[in-house]
Amino acid sequence: MTKAVSTLQTVNTPAVLVDLDITRRNIDRFQAYADVHGMKVRPHIKTHKLPAIAEMQLRAGAIGVTCQKVSEAEAMVAGSPQIRDVLITYNILGAEKLDHLAGLARKVTLSVVADNETVIDGLSSKFASQPTRLNVLVECNTGADRCGVPTPEAAAALAQRISAAPGLVFGGLMTYPPTDGAAAVESFMTRAKTLIEAVGIAVPVITSGGTPSMMSAAEAPVATEYRPGTYVYNDRSLVSRGVCGWDDCALTVLATVVSVPSANRAIIDAGSKSLTSDLLGLSGYGHVLGRDDIAIDQLSEEHGRLVSQGLINLKVGDRLRIVPNHACVVTNLVDAINILEKGEISAVWPVAARGKIV
Ligand SMILES: Cc1ncc(COP(=O)(O)O)c(C=O)c1O
Repeated sequence: MTKAVSTLQTVNTPAVLVDLDITRRNIDRFQAYADVHGMKVRPHIKTHKLPAIAEMQLRAGAIGVTCQKVSEAEAMVAGSPQIRDVLITYNILGAEKLDHLAGLARKVTLSVVADNETVIDGLSSKFASQPTRLNVLVECNTGADRCGVPTPEAAAALAQRISAAPGLVFGGLMTYPPTDGAAAVESFMTRAKTLIEAVGIAVPVITSGGTPSMMSAAEAPVATEYRPGTYVYNDRSLVSRGVCGWDDCALTVLATVVSVPSANRAIIDAGSKSLTSDLLGLSGYGHVLGRDDIAIDQLSEEHGRLVSQGLINLKVGDRLRIVPNHACVVTNLVDAINILEKGEISAVWPVAARGKIV
């Protein structure tokens, strides 16, 4: 952690800023909801990729973290002695990844997911000779139609296969549901749990996730834990869905106006390399705080085009804060995050799990 003191006027741009007070508030808000409903929280670190923010989540009450990739988990574990319980929500295949997974399992309490026999057999062939057995959860498709077994019967069949596999322990059920998918989670998981318990296998964990529906997570009481990711920072996509307001957006991209070629158009020094090309179904590439009249209608790599229906009213050198469409991908684009406290940049944190895609 490099100590730096700069201001919004002096920091080099484009710069990714994270407001720590808003971050803390976002973390505490969902933790309080989960505590009231007796649900454990296992935040997905894909949004921040920062061990220090994971530590804030753990201090608030999270039981561990979720990572998507093995290398991401390695970076987080190396970055904090407090990260000692990790779930990797991904089908892991291939000798090199399995070697790394075995290394991680020697350091932390580790769980992974699987939605097919090939993955289970690969995990078993590696962990049969390891000192500790690996927790494997069955990933279930409750309507998001990404990975996951399609039926509770298929989940039960894989649970039995995991249970019988050398080196593995059946860890429970996992899903990444669609928005407003609580009812589907409840019915799928209840049925799968009944089928699995009927053959004498315990289902210790049922884990669901996703920020858009997190405040209705309790409508699927069968779930024992929840994995929100984007909630930590929020973004324009979540504001547009009515999940939060601009004041809840902790991550912004600070950009400088470099050209004002006409009365209704300006160009900033943040393009697709910092705001990303992700639209997430929206029109435009971000929201300029305090300027509802401005659209960021076009990006090239290093240029962002701002247009206004009326006068753009900006001058070269002005600085703007932009809430990006999708916070998680923005943090994968920069080496470091500028930490904002009380309006000043108090520190610069290297993004430990940036670029960890394997
Ligand atoms: C498996 C899994 N769990 C949890 C999350 C967190 O979702 P969100 O960022 O909507 O909170 C994601 C996001 O992609 C995910 O893929």
